[in-house]
Amino acid sequence: MCGIVGIVSAKAFPSRVLLERLKRLEYRGYDSYGLFDGRGVIKHVGGIRVEGRGRCAAGIAHTRWATHGGVSERNAHPHLSCDGQIALVHNGIIENYEEIQKGLVRKGHRFASETDSEVIVHLLEELLRRRPIEEALPRLFRELKGTFAILAMIRGRDEIYALKRDSPLVLGAAEGRSVLASDIYAFSDWTDRAVFFENDEMARVGPDGARFFDRTGRPVRKPIRTFHWQEERTAKRTSGHYMLKEILEEPAAVGRLLFSLGHDQKPAFERLVRLIRRSRKVIFASCGTSYHASLLGAYYFHRAGMEVQTLIASEFRHFAKVDAETLVVALSQSGETMDVIDALKYARENGGRIASIVNVPHSTIQRMSDLSLNILAGPEVCVASTKAFVNQAALLLAIARAFGFQVQLETLPDRIRTLFKQRVKIRALAGRIARSRDAYIIGRGLTYPVARETALKIKETSYIHAEGMMGGELKHGTIALIEKGTPVLSLINAGDPDIVSNTKEVEARGAEVFVLTNHPTLGGDRNAVHLKTANDGKFGILAAVAGQLIAYYAAAALGRPIDKPRNLAKSVTVK
Ligand code: M6R
Repeated sequence: MCGIVGIVSAKAFPSRVLLERLKRLEYRGYDSYGLFDGRGVIKHVGGIRVEGRGRCAAGIAHTRWATHGGVSERNAHPHLSCDGQIALVHNGIIENYEEIQKGLVRKGHRFASETDSEVIVHLLEELLRRRPIEEALPRLFRELKGTFAILAMIRGRDEIYALKRDSPLVLGAAEGRSVLASDIYAFSDWTDRAVFFENDEMARVGPDGARFFDRTGRPVRKPIRTFHWQEERTAKRTSGHYMLKEILEEPAAVGRLLFSLGHDQKPAFERLVRLIRRSRKVIFASCGTSYHASLLGAYYFHRAGMEVQTLIASEFRHFAKVDAETLVVALSQSGETMDVIDALKYARENGGRIASIVNVPHSTIQRMSDLSLNILAGPEVCVASTKAFVNQAALLLAIARAFGFQVQLETLPDRIRTLFKQRVKIRALAGRIARSRDAYIIGRGLTYPVARETALKIKETSYIHAEGMMGGELKHGTIALIEKGTPVLSLINAGDPDIVSNTKEVEARGAEVFVLTNHPTLGGDRNAVHLKTANDGKFGILAAVAGQLIAYYAAAALGRPIDKPRNLAKSVTVK
């Protein structure tokens, strides 16, 4: 995943503004970055430093997360054509780049990087030798296989050419300037008006505005949409990291969602409930944290007397049988996860209906859906998803309630606030987990999905090996790994005797047991965090919030970068 930004303005602007905007997309990749401001290219390895250098009327920029080619300045974007006249940034993967490259090398092109992206700029240069730009771009569409959001500029022209297929691209219509970006977060503090590219569309964006075309070059009319995207007021400086900032925003985010389900989103919510009721089969499709939220949802639905299937989106086509009576419900924070998009394409090909629950408004997944609800968590900058999980789970709980599950959902924001008062204790517990190389998190029923989510958060932020599992599964093998001092976090929903006996099993093996529970006394004082809530499903969400804090404090104790994905790029094979 990479982030791209392009700005065209009626008045010259400092080129550092490109980097400022790019910084807002840094969560999409941060191993190197670069910009082209009409005069020249700057590239650096590492996190984005917002620095000044003159003014420009148009420019493009890119923050990279390496896939093809290691982390180096020469692999950073923008890439230049042989004559240095064209600069280009790309997010996506060009599948036929080797074939294109061979042909271009035969024609005399010299390549400066190991990336798949560089072939695009040379191909464009080649195409432009014999035809004007308006004919070259449809040819580019025809020749490229794979996924792309491309921004290209020609030296001396204050114009950006933008092309999209299967990678996100949006144009923000701000006062006096147009901003092209991978997502609305790049400009959501400037404008709430945007034009969303569909697949195989392109645009020519100049100081006088944007013109859109289909892949053959025929003009298309695109509506400008107004989006609602709540920028939170909680200052990052109060918390130090976006991860903590975003966890602390959870009470406000849940409150906003619950209000909207009773007001502006009420008709859509009721339509979704009707659609679920009418469908013979309901399948959730999602990845990572969103998948864990869907598992929690499946538990809630089960408690309401309904069966749903949950599938990891990348495995969807291998396990799902979709027909016209199937409803596929996609869950995604970004609304742009390619595995989910692929699952939805498969669902569509097989005649299924599509609903989605997303955070980023107007995202691709939302636009692919027959019906979509917004979780309204607001921008999630930290790569570890936290407040989105809470709002996804709260929305699924609200749906289960509509099917008869008894829950007092309105108290959830206050319960989370009360949990925050235990941060000192949670931090101490996290500090003890941080001393270990491995950790196990066990749950059952309501808390099984939370065990998996907590393990994912610990792995992702603190790089400790963590396994989240069903307490009942321990004895079928994994218990062999539990030895004296192994940390085991047990998520105990009051009134569940089975998870209590699983906890005793690991204790008997010498594990250092920690407990998160809504039981008033279980687990003693030193090793237990007691979360106050009734036994109505909210405990699952509260335990997940406590798990997020444990992951955060463990990562902080170990001095991990926290807000960013671990830089695996250096170990990526250089093609
Ligand atoms: O944007 P999505 O919810 O579709 O993303 C899915 C996963 O990539 C995401 O939840 C990932 O697992 C999180 N970074 C984990 O914190």
